[in-house]
Amino acid sequence: MTARFLDEDNDLAHLEVIPGRPGGVKAVDLPILHGTMGPAVLDIRKLYSETDCFTYDPGYTSTASCESKITFIDGEKGILLHRGYPIEELAENCSFLQVAYLLMEGEIPTEEEYQTFVKNITFHTMVHEQLRDFYRGFRRDAHPMAVMLGVVGALSAFYYDSLDIRDQRQRMIASHRLIAKMPTIAAMAHKYSIGQPFMYPQNDLGYAENLLYMMFATPTAPFKVNPVVARALNKILILHADHEQNASTSTVRLTGSSGANPFACIAAGIACLWGPAHGGANEAVLNMLTQIGHKDRIPEFIKRAKDKNDPFRLMGFGHRVYKHYDPRASVLRKVCQEVLEELDYHGEPLLELAKELEKIALEDPYFIEKKLYPNVDFYSGIILKAIGIPTCMFTVLFAVARTVGWIAQWMEMIGDPSQKIGRPRQLYTGHTLRHYRLSSPRGV
Ligand code: CMC
Repeated sequence: MTARFLDEDNDLAHLEVIPGRPGGVKAVDLPILHGTMGPAVLDIRKLYSETDCFTYDPGYTSTASCESKITFIDGEKGILLHRGYPIEELAENCSFLQVAYLLMEGEIPTEEEYQTFVKNITFHTMVHEQLRDFYRGFRRDAHPMAVMLGVVGALSAFYYDSLDIRDQRQRMIASHRLIAKMPTIAAMAHKYSIGQPFMYPQNDLGYAENLLYMMFATPTAPFKVNPVVARALNKILILHADHEQNASTSTVRLTGSSGANPFACIAAGIACLWGPAHGGANEAVLNMLTQIGHKDRIPEFIKRAKDKNDPFRLMGFGHRVYKHYDPRASVLRKVCQEVLEELDYHGEPLLELAKELEKIALEDPYFIEKKLYPNVDFYSGIILKAIGIPTCMFTVLFAVARTVGWIAQWMEMIGDPSQKIGRPRQLYTGHTLRHYRLSSPRGV
C-alpha cells in the first residue's frame, strides 16, 4: 500500500491510498485543524470509513487524542502555559488552590470567587470515619501508592451520592471532594505506615500547610508549619498540577470516556502515575543518586545510561515533549537552593551530586544529541527529602497535585460534545484463521 498527498492547502489534505490488495485507489479529503498555538492537526476521523485504513502510532507520538483549552506546551522552546499563563508566573504568585481554580474554571479567581472556592474545598477535607478501618486492611509496610490506589478507588463506595456523571452538580461535588480529600488520604497513608495516629485536617491552614500539618503533627505536641517549607511545597504542587495529555491524564480521560465515576477515574490515573517512567521518577531519582553515592562514580553511571544493552536510564532526565530544559525543573532548581538554605542543609551531598551529574550530562554528546535535559522530577525529590518527606511518599505528593489537572481534564472531556468512548485499533500480526484439530500435537 502507498499513500501520498496530492494536494494540500491550509484547510484540507487530499490523501490517496493505493492498497496492495484489490480494491483500487481510495481517496479522502482530510480537514487540517489549527489550534490557537502548536502544530496543525490532521483530522483523520473519516480515514477508516473511507479508505479501510488505520493509522499506526504506538506511544501516540504523532496523535492528538482530544481538543483541550487547559494547558499548552512548546517542548522545543521549553514553554508551559496553563490557560495561557506561564508556569513560572503562576508558581511565583499563586496559591495552589488559585491554580486549581484556574485549571478548572479557565480564569484566575477574583477574591470573592477564591473565598467561595476555598470554602467549598475545605468543607470536604475530612474523610468518612469508616475509611480509617479501610486503612487497617493494608500491611503497614505497603507502598503508600498502593494504599492510595485502594483508598481513592474506594471513595466511590463511600460517596455514592456524587457518582452520577450526567449531573453537573454531582460532578462538581465529586471534584471538590477529590481535591479536598487527597491531602488527607495521602497524609493518612504516611501516618499508617509509621504507626502514628491520623491527624484531622485544619481548615484554617492553606492547602500545602495543611498537608504538612497532617503529615508531621502529632496529638501530643503543638506543631507549627515552617512558612518557607510551606511555600516550597505550594510551588511543587503548582508545578505538578497539570501537564497536558501525559500518560496518567490520558488514562483518566480514557477511563472516564466509558462513563466510569470520577473516583474510579482518578484511581486509574494514580495507577498510571506510579510507573517509574512517569510520576515514579522522583522517587527513582533519589534512589539513583543514593546508589551513585559519590561524584567519582558519575562517569560509570553515565556510561551505563548510554549503553543500549543496559536497561539503566538517567532518572529525572529526558521527556517525551520537552527537547529543552523543562521549565518546571528551572523553577525547582531555585526552590531547592532556597529550601536547603532555610533548613541549613549547606553542602547537602545529594544536591551537590545532582548538580554535578546535571553538569556532566549536559556536556555529554549523547545527551546533547538526544536533547535529554533534566525534567521536573530531577530536583523535586531533593526538596521533598530535605523537608522530611520519606522517599516512598514522593509520587503520592505528585498524585495529590496532579488530581486537579486530572479533574480539570476529566470535566472538560465530559463537557465536550464530540467525546466518544476511547477505543484504539491495532495492527494485528498474529496467526491467520486456523482450526482446532484433535489429532494435532497441541490437541488435548
Ligand atoms: N537516560 C538515557 N537515555 C535516555 C533517557 C534517559 N533518561 N531518556 C531517553 N533516552 C534515550 C533513549 O534510550 C532513546 O535512545 P535511542 O533513540 O538511541 O533509542 C532516546 O533517548 C529517546 O528516548 P525514548 O524512550 O524513545 O523517549 P520517550 O519520549 O519515549 O521517553 C521518557 C520519555 C521520560 C520516558 C524517558 O526520557 C525516560 O525514561 N526518562 C527517565 C524517566 C523520567 O525521568 N521520567 C519522568 C518524566 S517527566 C515527569 C512525568 O512525566 O511524570
